[in-house]
Amino acid sequence: FIGLIIIILIGYLLGSLSFSYIIAKKIKKVDIRQHGSGNAGATNTLRVLGLGPALSVLALDVLKGIVAVWIGVVVAPDQSGLYPALAGFAAILGHNWPIYYGFRGGKGVATTIGVLATIVFFPALFAGIVAIGSIVITRYVSLGSILFAILTPIFALFLLDYYGYPVIYGYLAIVVALLSIWRHRTNIKRLLAGTESKIGQKS
Ligand code: G3P
Repeated sequence: FIGLIIIILIGYLLGSLSFSYIIAKKIKKVDIRQHGSGNAGATNTLRVLGLGPALSVLALDVLKGIVAVWIGVVVAPDQSGLYPALAGFAAILGHNWPIYYGFRGGKGVATTIGVLATIVFFPALFAGIVAIGSIVITRYVSLGSILFAILTPIFALFLLDYYGYPVIYGYLAIVVALLSIWRHRTNIKRLLAGTESKIGQKS
């Protein structure tokens, strides 16, 4: 039980490393949360700092999700998937509410990609293909993010048995999807109103 608490703590502290915040401070001396959409994430880094920094943020925020899950895999005492799932979930919570930056972080998309791609690779891959397709067509990153969050648990539900994923991974994907939809609530309002910003558009 202590092991589980420690794993959750490590996941949370790792997830709290907000790379959009760190990189924006480093290269432009700005608080990313005071620019563009105000979100501490890769999409807003693209808006505020450009493609190179955005790709770095994306990679690092994905990576911390992957690392958190793997720490859970390594220390897990059994095959239930509980440790990796909770470590990954804690990393996403850390990204959204980072302890180092006044609990104001991002929407968790990149970290969610890292976590879900590590625990349910094929469902995440199929959802990712649809999400990327929708971003290319509509240029709304938020729409792609929401689609990814919703489709991964749906695909996971169908593929859980086939790939022999632990059931808890399916539950995690559902919880993460609900969290992601909630974090995108202002984006959803803007999407419905037709006022959401598109990639390549000045905000
Ligand atoms: O990764 C978050 C993305 O889905 C939306 O970001 O900055 O447009 O609110 P943003």
